Amino acid sequence: MKGKRMQMFKVCSQKETEVFAEKLGEILNPGDIICLTGNLGAGKTAFTRGLAKALGINNHITSPTFTIVNEYEAEIPLYHFDVYRISSPDDMFEIGFEEYLYGDGVSVIEWADLIYDILPLESINVRIDISSRTNTEERVIEVEFKGNRYLGYEEKLLDKWSLYGGNNEDTCG
Ligand SMILES: Nc1ncnc2c1ncn2[C@@H]1O[C@H](COP(=O)(O)OP(=O)(O)OP(=O)(O)O)[C@@H](O)[C@H]1O
Ligand SMILES: [Mg+2]
Repeated sequence: MKGKRMQMFKVCSQKETEVFAEKLGEILNPGDIICLTGNLGAGKTAFTRGLAKALGINNHITSPTFTIVNEYEAEIPLYHFDVYRISSPDDMFEIGFEEYLYGDGVSVIEWADLIYDILPLESINVRIDISSRTNTEERVIEVEFKGNRYLGYEEKLLDKWSLYGGNNEDTCG
């Protein structure tokens, strides 16, 4: 499909998940939207922490479990959603979901798959999977840049990740 690009990455620790997210964060622009999926404890909040760091946000990042969204002020603000507990997509419109999405910040949505029907057509989709039973810190991160808005992002991310020396071996040490 045109304008749809997918890449797989491997990380070996929480720290490395955060570094990976930071590399992605460095290439983001105002209005970009990141949809995060992955099981409980996969590392979605850890990933968001790395993104925040790249935006120059040094606050402690925790999931906005009861408030749905946490806002962090910065040159490019961060809107951090966690939709795990919403009862209906209508809850999202009540908190002004669309104003956030089309605002000047970067939006990150944990458990985005739960509100699939109301997600924008273009987004950066990040899926984190606990990949190994033996190494509990190993994760596979699948990144899809969906839509023309994100043309060129994949190349930039790959460059940054290889410059960092990111691990893409089959297993972690
Ligand atoms: N490679 C890794 N990346 C991220 N977290 C890791 C990794 N390896 C181990 N962990 C651990 O997994 C947990 C991830 O927690 P985190 O809150 O980020 O997950 P989550 O996907 O946001 O969970 P939830 O679905 O509850 O929101 C932490 O305890 C972290 O230390
Ligand atoms: Mg979380």
